[in-house]
Amino acid sequence: MMITLGIESSCDETSVAILRGGAVLSSVTHSQGEHALYGGVVPEVASRAHLEKIDGLARRAMDGCGITPEKINLIAVTDSPGLAGALLVGVSFALGMHTAYGIPVTGVNHLEGHICSLFIDRGDDIKPPFLVLLASGGHTAIYKYVSSGNCALLGRTVDDAAGEAFDKVGKLLGFRYPAGRMIEAEAAKFAEESTQGKREKINFPVARFSSPEKSLCFSFSGLKTAVKNFISANSENYINDNRPAVCEAFQRTVVRSLADNLEEAANLTGIKTVAVAGGVACNGYLRGELKRRFGADNVIVPPPSLCTDNGAMIAMAGYMMYESNRLRFPKMDPGRGI
Ligand code: KG4
Ligand code: ZN
Repeated sequence: MMITLGIESSCDETSVAILRGGAVLSSVTHSQGEHALYGGVVPEVASRAHLEKIDGLARRAMDGCGITPEKINLIAVTDSPGLAGALLVGVSFALGMHTAYGIPVTGVNHLEGHICSLFIDRGDDIKPPFLVLLASGGHTAIYKYVSSGNCALLGRTVDDAAGEAFDKVGKLLGFRYPAGRMIEAEAAKFAEESTQGKREKINFPVARFSSPEKSLCFSFSGLKTAVKNFISANSENYINDNRPAVCEAFQRTVVRSLADNLEEAANLTGIKTVAVAGGVACNGYLRGELKRRFGADNVIVPPPSLCTDNGAMIAMAGYMMYESNRLRFPKMDPGRGI
């Protein structure tokens, strides 16, 4: 069975994983804490941190499952899209192993990697076609997945990504970067408070596009501004007291936008199975809402560790590219989508 080593370094996670076929043998990830100081990812800081960690992570991934370089059949590395200097670290490391050990190497598109995370450790129990909502810190889009290499973009954000909106609103409310998980936890407190009859719901508006060609697109920058205006229109004491209500309202609004568009995509395409991928797919409220709307059996959700950036999804994408004859030499292309 094919052994694939996957390398991810496109943003602020350095991650290396080893797969046998579509099953994870080992996976190690280092999330860069440095960026919390600045409230967002600083590209130069990211590149240096990747460079410091990647060698040790690759060693740990191999030691963790007793695989030596000679046993690796394919190296898969993210080469697009992402931060140029950050991608360069992973690609250079992959090319170093390729040259030193003669192991075949393929470049992988990061977004395809997120989508392929759906297939990890699941054997054949996922049957395309299905719709994928990819919602991360850098991207938010809906795709129609038909087969490896056949994936159509149906709609995407015209401004901020959903995760970016969580992070920016988190910053306004005083949370550390990345703020998605903390906003979710804070929003959950609101449910407790409101059952005790203590709190009223806040409502924020969400953008919808009326033109048919943009009906599946998203826009989150207006929502961020609405939260910002709400914060400046109220006293510091009020906001401190009502932070869970603000988080709940913001999260509910983002999730409604994501779920509405996914539901519309399902109506337009007639496809009833939906999947979520990317960091925002960790969000329990989003998962619950999709299960409520589409039925639990029709929603595919990877475990949280496979939603945020990881090397296993890149290895899986590389393995699936191999199976469909689509291997390609890495080519740095920081801006390329799918
Ligand atoms: O996929 P990912 O690790 O990196 C990118 O490719 O961007 O996604 C990171 C994003 C961050 O914006 C983070 O705030 C968000 O995913 N995120 C969440 C949750 N966990 C992570 N957003 C909402 N709720 C969560 N539980
Ligand atoms: Zn990502």
